[in-house]
Amino acid sequence: MSDQKVALVTAAAGVGIGGAIARQLALDGMTVVVTDAHERRCGEYADKIADETGQKTLAMPLDVTDAERVEQVMNDVVDQCGRLDVLVNNAGFNKIEPVSEMSLETWHKSLDIDLNGTFYCMRFALPHMIKQGAGNVVNISSIGAWECSKEHGSAYAAAKAAVMALTRVAAAENGPLGVRVNAVAPGLIYNDFLRKIYPTEFFEGYAKDRSYVGRVGEPQDVADLVSFLASDKAGYITGETYGISGGVFPHG
Ligand SMILES: NC(=O)c1ccc[n+]([C@@H]2O[C@H](COP(=O)([O-])OP(=O)(O)OC[C@H]3O[C@@H](n4cnc5c(N)ncnc54)[C@H](O)[C@@H]3O)[C@@H](O)[C@H]2O)c1
Repeated sequence: MSDQKVALVTAAAGVGIGGAIARQLALDGMTVVVTDAHERRCGEYADKIADETGQKTLAMPLDVTDAERVEQVMNDVVDQCGRLDVLVNNAGFNKIEPVSEMSLETWHKSLDIDLNGTFYCMRFALPHMIKQGAGNVVNISSIGAWECSKEHGSAYAAAKAAVMALTRVAAAENGPLGVRVNAVAPGLIYNDFLRKIYPTEFFEGYAKDRSYVGRVGEPQDVADLVSFLASDKAGYITGETYGISGGVFPHG
């Protein structure tokens, strides 16, 4: 078995947080499994990271709401790489509709992607990590789980809060088996997709009026935090959720 660690990131072929995390973990020296519901971009992005970092990458199309496929992908990674060291649950979905008007489709889709998808990936990755006696899970939650605000969809906020609880219990169960489980809760993280749907003034106003550091977050900010949590430097940290919001919602 190779000594090189293997990391799997969900929803890693977009222009946002997942892509930045996958690239950073490759820069950290890991073999990276790029998974995403978008099959073509999944392969293209894995190739791009391999070209840029020189690391081995694999592309595995994966919709995290498909539990059978999740199980197959986790098994395939271990068959092909011999190990699975890091799982980053990045896939997320948000649609802002008031509770009193929310479609059942929005509710179920949010819970399916944000919560069930995270659970499925942990459910089928953890047995491999437990068998290895080592592993590391980082779940991407959101400050939406903490804030009292109309800015986040309620289904999204509820699912992301559940991810924090799932993180804590999974950490308690698996710490003695050598597996750490943490979460991060980003505030607004700017990316090319969001730039197309929100006016520039929105980002400028957020940076000026809400952020203590005078800017919105970038995917790399979150990638750096995940890189730390996934590393041995964070060996004494488990069960935590770290906010990363430029001071927009400090959480103690
Ligand atoms: N962007 C923000 O401001 C922000 C803030 C707080 C939390 N988050 C969380 O961070 C994570 C990443 O968000 P992002 O905005 O950076 O997007 P991203 O670019 O990391 O993810 C987009 C990708 O998700 C993929 N995807 C969508 N549904 C999927 C599914 N069911 N299975 C697998 N892949 C799927 C898409 O194909 C796309 O490539 C999400 O969990 C989100 O809730 C984002």
